[in-house]
Amino acid sequence: MGVLLMGKSGSGKTSMRSIIFANYIARDTRRLGATIDVEHSHVRFLGNLVLNLWDCGGQEVFMENYISSQRDQIFRNVEVLIYVFDVESRDMERDMHYFQSVLESIGQHSPKAKIFCLVHKMDLIPDGQRGQLMLEREADLKRRATTPMAMTVFGTSIWDETLYKAWSAIVHSLIPNVRMLESHLGVFCAEAGADEVILFERTTFLVISHATSHAQTDPHRFEKVSNIIKQFKLSCSKSQAQFQTMEICTPTFSAFIQGFTPNTYAMVVHSDRDIQPGIMIININRARPSFE
Ligand code: GTP
Repeated sequence: MGVLLMGKSGSGKTSMRSIIFANYIARDTRRLGATIDVEHSHVRFLGNLVLNLWDCGGQEVFMENYISSQRDQIFRNVEVLIYVFDVESRDMERDMHYFQSVLESIGQHSPKAKIFCLVHKMDLIPDGQRGQLMLEREADLKRRATTPMAMTVFGTSIWDETLYKAWSAIVHSLIPNVRMLESHLGVFCAEAGADEVILFERTTFLVISHATSHAQTDPHRFEKVSNIIKQFKLSCSKSQAQFQTMEICTPTFSAFIQGFTPNTYAMVVHSDRDIQPGIMIININRARPSFE
């Protein structure tokens, strides 16, 4: 099973994957068909899941070729398709035509795949116009599917937290038994007397799931934390170090982050500032077996 990231040249795929996957990407060049060399890269995350990145390229010959003759190889066993659109593309009709061909191939070879469309570079659109534009794009994209498909559309930009939000939703959709995970997390949060417990995927630090017992004010807090920790992890890796745990103390809350399962980190947040880090560690260790 794999994840396919596609979109026209220049739509922002490379920027996106280097933000989400940083330096975890393995690159290789594969020969598709007789004459076409395609850059293919892949990354492993969530344990065994492979994210395959194929560049659709801008050239029509290439596009037609790989959609017509290489369908089996590319479109088989796709669990999730992520298709990136440049919001300012000058040729939306052609973009839509490619997208439609890809949908047809997916419908044929991986009919159960979930589709995520990212209308990217939204920062180029004035704030007040984004809502309306997204409504129109979403309706248009959904019309393109000729067979019933689960399709979700996000507006994204590398300049704010929307990219993390969209990718977290994608990762969330790939987790097996996600309901069970959520219910375990609820129990963990209640038993630890925490305000919130958040689960992050290890490679990307994207939020997989969370349990909240006290209403929180900032709706973008998950994406912000993902971003901050990711930067920190990168700084650590530059000095060949890896962080194991992190403790954050502020005047209003304490938080503790620790490796949890082989594929995740857990973050426990308490508004009770007197809580000892040792207690948080005990709580995390106690909860771990029900997640493994
Ligand atoms: P190919 O490698 O040619 O297939 O293109 P790509 O889809 O990988 O696009 P790439 O990441 O190279 O981005 C193309 C251009 O778009 C670059 O100049 C990026 O800086 C810019 N870009 C990417 N994401 C964003 C975004 O969210 N907002 C804005 N304003 N520009 C972006």
